[in-house]
Amino acid sequence: MFRKESVANQLIFLTGATSGVGEQLAYLLAKKQARLILSGRNQTKLAEVKANCREYTLQPIYTACLDLTQPKTIQPTMEHVYENYGVPSILINCAGIGLFRSFVDMDFEQVEQIYQINLFGTMALTKTVTKEMIQSKQSGIVVNIASQGGKMPSPKSSIYGSSKAALIAFSDTLRLELAPYNIQVLTVNPGPIVTNFFEQADETGNYLEAVKDYALEPEEVAIEIVEGIEFRKREVNLPSYMQLANLGYRLFPRVGDYLSQTVFNKK
Ligand SMILES: NC(=O)c1ccc[n+]([C@@H]2O[C@H](COP(=O)([O-])OP(=O)(O)OC[C@H]3O[C@@H](n4cnc5c(N)ncnc54)[C@H](OP(=O)(O)O)[C@@H]3O)[C@@H](O)[C@H]2O)c1
Repeated sequence: MFRKESVANQLIFLTGATSGVGEQLAYLLAKKQARLILSGRNQTKLAEVKANCREYTLQPIYTACLDLTQPKTIQPTMEHVYENYGVPSILINCAGIGLFRSFVDMDFEQVEQIYQINLFGTMALTKTVTKEMIQSKQSGIVVNIASQGGKMPSPKSSIYGSSKAALIAFSDTLRLELAPYNIQVLTVNPGPIVTNFFEQADETGNYLEAVKDYALEPEEVAIEIVEGIEFRKREVNLPSYMQLANLGYRLFPRVGDYLSQTVFNKK
């Protein structure tokens, strides 16, 4: 276990800051006196989250409007960030969307949109930020919010789950490539969290009710993510017992398939 390192004064670029886990991360990091660059598409909500952060800190808080489905806008937006606010020492890739639907019923536009946000846009942002970290010879941390859906399959999650599985595999290799530059990579794999995510992802509207006994609150997920950053963890699985479930699935995949199709089939 690493010594706890404070996030105070660190310049943190946070995607998905306008809602759910990202919004709670913004408040927790502001309380811990980090310098923040909050990102999302919704400018009104960005301004609201920034104003709420002001209650907790006198550190600078900036906003950067960014749509991850528009890859050509990522580099110019980040050039503006580097020039005006500096190179972030921590990048938190929290933005993400899902859609729970059988693969055969998916339109390809929806497939592309999910991959664009969860993977390609996130990769493009990670590439420019890590390149700047390396060039400026500063150590850093990249935090990728993936999902338990990327570790274990469940029906109606082929596209969301595979986008997150790819994000986990990407993070695992990135970790090896960035280690010589003292840039660490943390992957966070939460189970269901009570956020607006399901307004788009869950067409039935029943999923959260079905998993309410073990669904996480965004505040507790934010606490675990910040602890993962402070203790330089490699991976955070939430709830923590999911680590055992992941192991069980690897060892006994047929049992895992059966359980996913029956007991844990809630979508
Ligand atoms: N909720 C869950 O059960 C759960 C479980 C496991 C993992 N996760 C993951 O946790 C992360 C946070 O999810 P959440 O539950 O907090 O969801 P949420 O409340 O729906 O927030 C999603 C965030 O993503 C941003 N976003 C969506 N489309 C975007 C785009 N095109 N470009 C840039 N940003 C975009 C949204 O901001 P704007 O609308 O302002 O752009 C919003 O801030 C996601 O990566 C999600 O996959 C969630």
